[in-house]
Amino acid sequence: MQIFRPINIYLHRRFEEASGLKGAEIGVLSGDNAFEIASLLGDRLSRLYLVDPYIPYDENSISNRDELNYRYGPFMQKQKEKARRKLEPYSFVNFVYEPSVEAAGRLLAEGELLDFVYIDATHTEEEVRKDITAWLPLVKPGGVLSGHDFNFKGVSAAVRALLEPYELLPGGTDWVYIKPEKEK
Ligand SMILES: C[S@@+](CC[C@H](N)C(=O)[O-])C[C@H]1O[C@@H](n2cnc3c(N)ncnc32)[C@H](O)[C@@H]1O
Repeated sequence: MQIFRPINIYLHRRFEEASGLKGAEIGVLSGDNAFEIASLLGDRLSRLYLVDPYIPYDENSISNRDELNYRYGPFMQKQKEKARRKLEPYSFVNFVYEPSVEAAGRLLAEGELLDFVYIDATHTEEEVRKDITAWLPLVKPGGVLSGHDFNFKGVSAAVRALLEPYELLPGGTDWVYIKPEKEK
């Protein structure tokens, strides 16, 4: 029996009666979680943006870009190809090979609005703050802004600073914020 990530069960239940849903995952890697979203929400989705530039990124304190590319470049390209293959059966999937903030800015300018966003990219406080700030305007009132790895110091600090009240799902690493129907 497959065990789904708590956020996906949450989204599945919250949007039980919905159709034509639009959502995004920020940080996709090999597409494992994206595949869960796609298979669980399935025919209720009309669009699932999967946002990842697949550029080696510095969570391992390697500040030299050449070394970073040399060590992780081929690995990232493999993850990109794995994700593409895994999600191929789902016509509602739209890969966006841009960094989070750029992608959010472009979609917002195009007038896109989403039912849910799941943030799981870089986990430093600075980057999570940027992701939250960039994607919140794209979430519909009453929609879900969420993310992974609340147990990372940077993630919890950013969520606490920018999003109240938030909820932690059972298991404790997925966080959820419901965008108010009216601006505060
Ligand atoms: C933890 S992995 C994602 C795992 C995936 N959500 C899952 O659970 O299957 C983090 C991913 O974030 C991506 N990433 C890093 N910086 C990013 C950025 N600025 N915008 C979008 N994605 C980014 C990385 O390329 C990497 O693939």
